[in-house]
Amino acid sequence: MCIAMTSVLSLFRIGIRKRKNEPQKGVFSVLPRHIAIIMDGNGRWAKKRSLPRVLGHREGAETLKRITRYCKNIGVGYLTVYAFSTENWKRSPDEVSGIMDLLRSYLETFEKDPENDKIRVRFIGDRDGLDQGIVKEFDRITERTRDNRDAIDLIIAFNYGGRRDIVNAAKGIAKGAVSGDINVDDIDEELFSGFLYTEGIPDPDLLIKPGAEKRISNFLLWQLAYTEMWFTDVLWPDFGEKEIDEAILEFGNRQRRFGGLAFEGQNS
Ligand code: FPP
Repeated sequence: MCIAMTSVLSLFRIGIRKRKNEPQKGVFSVLPRHIAIIMDGNGRWAKKRSLPRVLGHREGAETLKRITRYCKNIGVGYLTVYAFSTENWKRSPDEVSGIMDLLRSYLETFEKDPENDKIRVRFIGDRDGLDQGIVKEFDRITERTRDNRDAIDLIIAFNYGGRRDIVNAAKGIAKGAVSGDINVDDIDEELFSGFLYTEGIPDPDLLIKPGAEKRISNFLLWQLAYTEMWFTDVLWPDFGEKEIDEAILEFGNRQRRFGGLAFEGQNS
């Protein structure tokens, strides 16, 4: 990064720190309404320290808490995080059960933290194959946080796969067509979106992927069609406010054209 850019970022951060205990909305000239994050690099973080992989995930869960709070404070409306994919079952039984335990403890302690009353939580993904106790907790927390005011929407993708999301939507629409509830000529992108797990949630404006590898890994395939992407080598457990600031500043300098032509001053 050039020196000028580093100084601008430092100035931003000084400004943010000064107002630590106040709402920090309005710091960025352009703020993504919806940020999606692929929380990658937990395993490598642990490996570097000769620790079991699950300790990397534990640290990753702490990063998630910090980043959710920060995004809420700066005024991001929606944060969607990829916590467990439909393919992650291929990992060792120890790692899978470690992630399930972390999820349980995250859910158990969620309401004990008073700061979480500024978070509305939802879960997207396939519930088949998940422990019924976990599924009940998903519903309970969603219900308990539904009416939280002045809150960020945190969407946790768990047992989620982008292809499965699309296939499930296609099945739902096909059933509707067979039963006569859906007229085939009425099937369009808007109707299709309404059958996805993310029904009613705006598409992400910015996708952030830590962990050095540049790929989508079957995350939100439909929803990311026009999302700006930002990648960093930093591993998710080491990811912090500095990286979010950098990503948002770069997002503000991107010209979003959605396939059309740009006009001056336009970002989104
Ligand atoms: C990808 O990193 C990360 C995961 C598959 C799990 C993410 C889980 C958490 C952050 C914590 C549990 C979730 C909640 C909601 C409490 P990786 O293991 O593939 O990293 P690597 O590429 O370095 O191996």
